[in-house]
Amino acid sequence: MLINDIWFELRDGRKALLTSPEEKYVDSTLDFLRISAGETDFITRYPEEFDEFTREGEKELFYQMNASNNDVMILCIVDGKVAGNCSIQFKTSLKTKHRASIGIALLKEFWNLGIGTEMFKEMIRLAKDRENITQIELEFVEGNTRARALYEKMGFRIAGVLPNAIRLKDGTLLNEYVMTLEI
Ligand SMILES: CC(C)(COP(=O)(O)OP(=O)(O)OC[C@H]1O[C@@H](n2cnc3c(N)ncnc32)[C@H](O)[C@@H]1OP(=O)(O)O)[C@@H](O)C(=O)NCCC(=O)NCCS
Repeated sequence: MLINDIWFELRDGRKALLTSPEEKYVDSTLDFLRISAGETDFITRYPEEFDEFTREGEKELFYQMNASNNDVMILCIVDGKVAGNCSIQFKTSLKTKHRASIGIALLKEFWNLGIGTEMFKEMIRLAKDRENITQIELEFVEGNTRARALYEKMGFRIAGVLPNAIRLKDGTLLNEYVMTLEI
């Protein structure tokens, strides 16, 4: 699904754009994926897991996301560069199509500037606009206080915990928390 472009101001005064993915952002998106995965343990992949990602593959993913009736990917562009992305997926089977799930990540240099808040406003709006959606879901990894603060600010509450969902390279095991928002 495509979104209408949304311009907004970051906390440092710069202008930012929320937009659907386009081919011109493929390289910057690949850079964002690899760099962001090395900046925090709270993203579920390590940077090398993006080594196999290609320009063609990303272009195809952009196309599929934009053409889909059930998936939305949104990029945030600042000064011509991809600062991060988010996505919302609407489930499709008869028994689960009242549910949507959300994912989000930004480059560290763009944390705490208000991008996450704007992305959530748009994703919640999209979910509210869609018939029959009553629940949005997401997960965060134990210790991710910034993400948790954002999600609680947007109205999400913890619904459960998946013990030891994440195992880091050094063997550290981390829980994953599920949060939900009823709409
Ligand atoms: C988590 C993330 C998406 C949040 O986006 P963001 O643009 O930084 O969020 P915002 O600036 O809109 O809001 C963050 C809020 O958390 C608060 N916050 C920041 N650091 C915090 C901390 N250490 N503890 C508690 N709250 C914190 C901010 O004050 C802000 O709240 P406010 O608007 O009431 O002031 C982003 O930081 C990110 O991509 N992190 C790395 C990847 C990641 O963790 N992704 C989520 C996986 S579940």
